[in-house]
Amino acid sequence: MASYIIRNVSKSVTLLRLNDTDVKYFEANWHIPEGITYNAYVIKGKDGAVLIDLWKQKYSDLFLEALKQVVEPAEIRYVVVNHAEPDHTGALEAFSEVNPNAIVVAFPIAESLLRAKYNFKNQFKSLKNDESLSLSDITLKFIYTPWVHWPETMMTYYEQERILFTCDAFGSYSIPDGVDDQVADKEYERYSEKYLVTVIGSYRDNLLKNIEKLNLEGIKPAIIAPSHGLIWSKNPERVIQLYTRWARGESDEKKAVIIYASMYGSIESVVKKIKDSLPGVNFKTFAFTDNKRDDIEDALTEANGAKVVVIASPTYEVGPHPSIAQLIDIFSMKMKGLNKPTVLLTSYGWSSTADKRNLKAMQDAGFKVIDQATFKEKIAENDLKRIVSSISAALSSQP
Ligand SMILES: Cc1cc2nc3c(=O)[nH]c(=O)nc-3n(C[C@H](O)[C@H](O)[C@H](O)COP(=O)(O)O)c2cc1C
Ligand SMILES: [Fe+2]
Ligand SMILES: [Fe+2]
Repeated sequence: MASYIIRNVSKSVTLLRLNDTDVKYFEANWHIPEGITYNAYVIKGKDGAVLIDLWKQKYSDLFLEALKQVVEPAEIRYVVVNHAEPDHTGALEAFSEVNPNAIVVAFPIAESLLRAKYNFKNQFKSLKNDESLSLSDITLKFIYTPWVHWPETMMTYYEQERILFTCDAFGSYSIPDGVDDQVADKEYERYSEKYLVTVIGSYRDNLLKNIEKLNLEGIKPAIIAPSHGLIWSKNPERVIQLYTRWARGESDEKKAVIIYASMYGSIESVVKKIKDSLPGVNFKTFAFTDNKRDDIEDALTEANGAKVVVIASPTYEVGPHPSIAQLIDIFSMKMKGLNKPTVLLTSYGWSSTADKRNLKAMQDAGFKVIDQATFKEKIAENDLKRIVSSISAALSSQP
């Protein structure tokens, strides 16, 4: 059962957080047993209130119920849409029923997306460039930060209290017990990295560019308030550092990730030989076999911070095994251009193009293939030795 939390963030800002425990596959794709939150915010001023982002449509009734506990909906003068994606705008129709007069503030692409999807009467204030809006004691600066995560995404800076509302940027999966970064432990960081890789992974460069833009504009928030996960009020720099490192795919530990498929054990026995040959190494292994199917999103998250990635596939209908083909396809979408050292292993029975196809796909995705071996059922001893030393060398190299 979904639930919500209402919490004061500062003197004039209140968080309305929906804890979504119903969602199983975010974006109809990513398995998130940990759940996710949608954070909306209300800023209350002398001359009315501002609503920043909303919730998913399914929770419209709960949204209005929560909102009414914080402010009379008719007092809301502006609804700021940082991002038009329905996880943050779905409740707009329901909101419009109770307040058709509030003005929706958004960039033009967001306006066209919202008008196409929803029926509502509210007028727009269409933003042209980065600009500010004043409502007596509330000054908001809108910063266009395209492609974090869609072309219309922006951030909103509330100047009086130095709070930056970042929507998807600096967001995370999971439903933490607390609402701020006092409870941001290693497990939470893993969910944040998983969120970054799966949702914003294709737009890493845009994220880094926009972090740079915030710097150039001298925006030094006291609080970073995203629309998924925790609010960073104790240590806002921390989430910027973490996100920067993850966007670059940097590793802070000597970690090798092995992702393999194996139908009848050939690949699995090679994987075991490699691991047995490197006993001190921190291997994270993800398997697709006849009795195991690890979560692809966990494999992606671990691969993001790995020093070396090993991908091992049997041949299947001349090409790679379907699980590995899908994985490589997702790598080329979400992990492009990281130049990560990669080892490819392929087994076959009679005729295979899997090795060539995987090599091309991984190189096209911007991975650095440092070694590969193709073998008929069993790997040759000298190939195994070479592969083991390639993995070992990659693990001890500096970034
Ligand atoms: C369903 C299936 C399809 C296969 N297709 C091919 C193929 O097209 N070309 C080939 O050379 N080997 C093919 N093979 C043989 C496997 O690639 C080979 O036995 C491989 O070593 C199996 O590795 P594994 O035991 O780790 O699953 C196929 C095997 C299976 C079970
Ligand atoms: Fe989004
Ligand atoms: Fe989102």
